[in-house]
Amino acid sequence: MKVELIQVDREKCVKCGICADVCPIGIIHMKQEWPEQADPESCIACGHCVAACPHEALDNLRAPLSGQTVMAKFPAVPQEQAYQFLRSRRSIRNYEKRPVPREKLLQLLDIARYAPTASNFQSISYLVIEDPQILQRIRTLINTWMEEQLHLGSYWAQRYAGVLKRFEGTETDTVLRNAPCIIVAAAPKGLENGRDNAKFSLAYVELYAPAMGMGTCWAGLLQMCAFSGYKPLLELLNLPGDREFSGAIVAGYPKYRYNRLVDRNPLQVEFR
Ligand SMILES: Cc1cc2nc3c(=O)[nH]c(=O)nc-3n(C[C@H](O)[C@H](O)[C@H](O)COP(=O)(O)O)c2cc1C
Repeated sequence: MKVELIQVDREKCVKCGICADVCPIGIIHMKQEWPEQADPESCIACGHCVAACPHEALDNLRAPLSGQTVMAKFPAVPQEQAYQFLRSRRSIRNYEKRPVPREKLLQLLDIARYAPTASNFQSISYLVIEDPQILQRIRTLINTWMEEQLHLGSYWAQRYAGVLKRFEGTETDTVLRNAPCIIVAAAPKGLENGRDNAKFSLAYVELYAPAMGMGTCWAGLLQMCAFSGYKPLLELLNLPGDREFSGAIVAGYPKYRYNRLVDRNPLQVEFR
């Protein structure tokens, strides 16, 4: 039986063809005046056809109109505000000792679902590690791994050894920055672009966190260690069998507030 993927309300449709124009994989066409579907199995459920229709004339089984929120004002924030907002995100390396309630963490992670994924594949899942004992085991494992890397002459391990030395005898946690939790993103094993998808989703989390009074920092050492395939760490993380480690950040309540926006290297760009 043919699946009717799209439904067109002929009373509302003005045959403008926007739905066909915005479909990223070309399965909507206007050959017979009204929008029609071809190859519905290929629909990636991006919902563009429904969202771009100016007359609410189109519905799509895979991205129903009922699930889409009306947005009265676009863009949602004015340019200047967006600029300041993006510039004000910083890596947070000093956290208050209090844990983040799970309800808050769920709110924070929910934004990750809206990050772009290749072919709208989505499917990134998250592991939140809050248990202080597990966090401590991860720190120890990463330091052991780094020592091994140092013997192998790794540039990063040498830099890290310098950092470790400077903080020797202090309570500074150079691996996880004493954050109350780690957020690990996992993609389906072997999925092309899985790691990119996971990183973009964590970038959304990182940008959203300050709006919730929270802060984050990329767990770069943890990522390097996991991406290298270091078994003791992967075994400790124990991700579901069909998933692979694809990125990680730490998160918590920032101890300090920043009062200035820093400058960066000048923009390098070439036009051709
Ligand atoms: C892939 C990646 C890995 C990172 N790893 C670490 C890390 O392991 N520890 C850390 O303290 N900061 C880490 N950072 C944060 C960078 O040092 C930081 O983004 C940079 O200094 C710019 O500062 P800002 O994020 O506050 O603007 C990482 C950032 C990225 C993008």
